Amino acid sequence: MQNTYKAEPYRIKMIEPIRETTRTERETLLANAGYNPFSLRSEDVYIDLLTDSGTGAMSQAQWAALMMGDEAYAGSRSFYRLERVVKAITGYAYFIPAHQGRGAEQVLLPRLVHKDGMVFLSNMHFDTTRAHVELAGARAIDCVVDICFETAKEAPFKGNFDLTKVTHQIEEKGPDKIAGIIMTLTNNSAGGQPVSMENLRAVSALGRHYDIPLIIDGARYAENAYFVKCREKGYADRTMREIVREAFDLADIFLMSAKKDGLCNIGGLIAIKEDRKLFDTCRTHLVPLEGFPTYGGLTGRDMEALAVGLEEALEEDYLAHRFDQVRYLGDRLIAAGVPIQRPVGGHAVFVDCRAFAPHIPYDQFPGQSVVNALYLEAGVRAVEIGSFLLGRDPDTGENLQSPLEFMRLTIPRRTYTYRHLDVVADAIIAIHAKRTELVGLTFEYEPPVLRHFTARLRPITP
Ligand code: F0G
Repeated sequence: MQNTYKAEPYRIKMIEPIRETTRTERETLLANAGYNPFSLRSEDVYIDLLTDSGTGAMSQAQWAALMMGDEAYAGSRSFYRLERVVKAITGYAYFIPAHQGRGAEQVLLPRLVHKDGMVFLSNMHFDTTRAHVELAGARAIDCVVDICFETAKEAPFKGNFDLTKVTHQIEEKGPDKIAGIIMTLTNNSAGGQPVSMENLRAVSALGRHYDIPLIIDGARYAENAYFVKCREKGYADRTMREIVREAFDLADIFLMSAKKDGLCNIGGLIAIKEDRKLFDTCRTHLVPLEGFPTYGGLTGRDMEALAVGLEEALEEDYLAHRFDQVRYLGDRLIAAGVPIQRPVGGHAVFVDCRAFAPHIPYDQFPGQSVVNALYLEAGVRAVEIGSFLLGRDPDTGENLQSPLEFMRLTIPRRTYTYRHLDVVADAIIAIHAKRTELVGLTFEYEPPVLRHFTARLRPITP
């Protein structure tokens, strides 16, 4: 991919004011938030890079579509419109809406667990996917390629499955113990890193050989397909629709958090290629968990906006610009010597905080220390993806050590400008220059599960 840095392929017709605070204000705000930016009010954040989930801007076509929402409890016109779009993109026979990705997970994943001791294999499970696998009584095993842990090494598809690892797991556990293979596109936890079509094809062949269903967890499937188009031999002249269809043809089930590549603020979906029995049992469970099968937790207007967003997310102008923005931020950091996961992924720049602050041990959370410094420096909110998020070993109670200590700078879709990204880059470069002054953190309050959302911390002053 070239470094083009093209301007935004849109102009702004509605604005949402954001406020810059002073450093003194931020010191008080961060202390009050227990040194955990999850507890900040969004009004006190200048540029919010916490997540790309549900935080993007909708287009005029989506806002117009909202007015067409049919809010009937059953048989809504908006459901049928969304169903048409999903079936046209995936080629799958069955569609079920859900309120967001984890809603789709709670409906689908337990249906694939038929007995004790089953496991799911994934390149990398996202946190909520792992949680639903475990709630269903199964285990989640990651089989990503090892190069994804070497942040400084460039490779085009660092999200790929390691085929040796996955084959070994299938043979060791026995194929009847594998509830499903989950292909996360792009691989969020590894830095938004893509998976090649070649890898998807090989994993699909394994699944078919052993009769194991292949599930695409495709929150960012359009971004993954764009990486394939730009980086994989033979795809440069293929349309986005052709590339995504080839990926769906290789899988059996599509799970999606539509808050990402659905370009919506809420939404999720399940699509099933041909397994009617599975569709029926999912629909049965959908009713008590999410809602009636023709709304699944969404309003009619949500389904209208999603029908439009799914199509817009496959437009090449939009994708080229999105990749350009993420790469722009990454390139500015690389040029200044800031260590990041390379090459940059699809939705975020992941700063390698173990390399950034090597003097802070993992159990004093180097990623969180850099996240806090960034907020103090410029009012920018990022998120830690490392040992703070990972939590403790349930048996020993010890802090687990994450293989990667990241600060994720997640870029919402169509929301910020290149100048906003300059503010972020300048602030990180300034912190990097004084990185030896960064200190670790310790708990003041630690919740027993999913601690990173609500924990309160305190800097360890020397
Ligand atoms: N799968 C992947 C790959 C995700 O990144 C997410 C959410 C989900 C499933 C769950 O979807 O939030 O709609 O329930 N990722 C967000 C993030 C939260 O910030 O990366 P959800």
